[in-house]
Amino acid sequence: MKHLLQIKGLSKDDINKIIDKATEMKKIVLSGKKRDDRFVGKSMVTLFYENSTRTMNSFTFAGQFLGMTVANINSSVSSVQKGESLIDTARTIDAYNTDVIVLRHSYSGASKLLAENVNAHIINAGDGLHAHPTQALLDLYTLVEHYGDLSGKKVAIVGDILHSRVARSNIESLTLMGAKVYLFGPKTLMPIETPNRENVVFCNTLNEALEDADAVMGLRIQLERQKTGLFPSLKEYAKIYGLNSERMKLAKENAILMHPGPVNRGVEISAELMDSECSVIEKQVLNGLCVRMAVLDLMLGEN
Ligand code: CP
Repeated sequence: MKHLLQIKGLSKDDINKIIDKATEMKKIVLSGKKRDDRFVGKSMVTLFYENSTRTMNSFTFAGQFLGMTVANINSSVSSVQKGESLIDTARTIDAYNTDVIVLRHSYSGASKLLAENVNAHIINAGDGLHAHPTQALLDLYTLVEHYGDLSGKKVAIVGDILHSRVARSNIESLTLMGAKVYLFGPKTLMPIETPNRENVVFCNTLNEALEDADAVMGLRIQLERQKTGLFPSLKEYAKIYGLNSERMKLAKENAILMHPGPVNRGVEISAELMDSECSVIEKQVLNGLCVRMAVLDLMLGEN
């Protein structure tokens, strides 16, 4: 694996390998030492042009726990502010003989552009509306930990599908692993089409999406990517589309609640549902670290 730019192109086998490796990495994360020196001498730079808590910090920890030297560049305090282009910034990082660059950027295709212009391995940490592959992998790992085989499992994705790179990557990974994906959101926040239509259902009501679901994934309202007027108000959004304990009862009895974060508490998900037993949101965060360690291992390791 030279680069990880999107889920498309990965096979079922590749994904199973990442999940197996993440399980191995979890043992390191949960050990008292949190340290394995397999990549001492390797370096990684996280280059973020958009805000992040989970992805940037978990990549940083992932590299450090595996012995790497890690530097973080935030575009808001770098020479990007003096007019340096994305490619020139990446070439500067590459000149340090950096092994891995983790990029988050608001332009779809930005990570592909870097992969074509630098020597380092590129990991896409979210590019515009296009893809967020490590998020989809950590979501998949969380589901597999819970259910094992995902064949035939119903996963409802609810919210701002149109602007969601997480939804796009999840549709790719979940359908590849045999799950059926049910999408629902305000009509103005639904895409016209998605890949893998065969196992993707566009729902007309929230009930249709939630009924008998094995997992329900809420999505963040991405105010930063929306033109105004796509829905009347956050209050109205919460009332009509928000997930709460009453609505969650439509899903299977032991269904799990997921969200990639950050959550607009009380908008996409009510506070009481978010803090309830069925929520695996914090588990997703831990699994994100394990999956990112797994990706680094498969990228840099001997095999
Ligand atoms: N899910 C996710 O990408 O979160 P961050 O924006 O905090 O990285």
